[in-house]
Amino acid sequence: MKPHSVYVTRRIPQAGLDLLAEVAEVDINPEDAPLTRAELLEKAAAYDGVIGMLSDRIDGEFFDAAARLKGYANYAVGFDNIDVAEATRRGIPVSNTPGVLTDATAELAWALLFGVARRIVETDKVMRSGAWTGWGPLQFIGGDVKGKTLGIVGAGRIGTAMALMSRGFNMKVLYTSSSGRHNAVLEDELNAELVTFDRLLEESDFISLHCPLTDGTRHLFDASAFARMKETAYIVNTARGPVIKEADLAAALKSGQIAGAGLDVYENEPAMDPGLAELDNVIVLPHVGSATISSRTDMATLAARNLTAMLRGKQPETCLNP
Ligand code: DGY
Repeated sequence: MKPHSVYVTRRIPQAGLDLLAEVAEVDINPEDAPLTRAELLEKAAAYDGVIGMLSDRIDGEFFDAAARLKGYANYAVGFDNIDVAEATRRGIPVSNTPGVLTDATAELAWALLFGVARRIVETDKVMRSGAWTGWGPLQFIGGDVKGKTLGIVGAGRIGTAMALMSRGFNMKVLYTSSSGRHNAVLEDELNAELVTFDRLLEESDFISLHCPLTDGTRHLFDASAFARMKETAYIVNTARGPVIKEADLAAALKSGQIAGAGLDVYENEPAMDPGLAELDNVIVLPHVGSATISSRTDMATLAARNLTAMLRGKQPETCLNP
């Protein structure tokens, strides 16, 4: 019998489960679906530690149920699903998985950027349907990338990596910062410029979102933001869905107020605004930013190391409590 018990709310890569099994009895949700709220609260009550997903709400009610909980490890870098202040008030350590999914998410942002600019999904559908009638000089014309202006909203780890990947395309890089702090890497390596949100909206040809979801970023992109963007501009979101007011985005895409969007995240996952499904100038992916073998494996082992530390009363590597 191991000294601790751990519950994992969805099956994660085996490398993480193996690490946990060295120190704890491990139970895993057998279904390929999130736990219901009642199930999550029941597990919170019964285990010493929990590894949970971005779809699990970890709040006061969860902590009320979790009488013996020594720690909670999020299997995600984003942690808007956790009430960190409440965890801290109760002395419960909580952690996330920064760093290990940076490149995978930045690469997916580029896949969306190119995909929507060059109409990859739309034209793939034309080929598959047999509707293509042969090459045409005015067919399927998309947006240029090289030499254009890239606007980064949230120049943290992933935003910085995404911007650095623009090097081959000789782009002008603008970025915003909620703290007003300069990003030395972007400024030294790319000559990037810290600008106001309005300037970023007005001057960018591509806007890529990498900010966390907070009260300050919820619905940052609404009808008034889209109205300030160029009609030829594209927006890419691999951050969190509610940063964009989805109904306003669907309207802006439909009316041609902006040229296109590449989305990996949604306001009310797994649903999306039904208006988006009818449009060709948007690519919609099912939240797969970190879905590469190495990122998901490293997320699992980092979450496992974090939870192991918490069970032993030690500070986790990537602790969220201040
Ligand atoms: C995260 O980690 O926050 C991603 O959204 C999922 O991996």
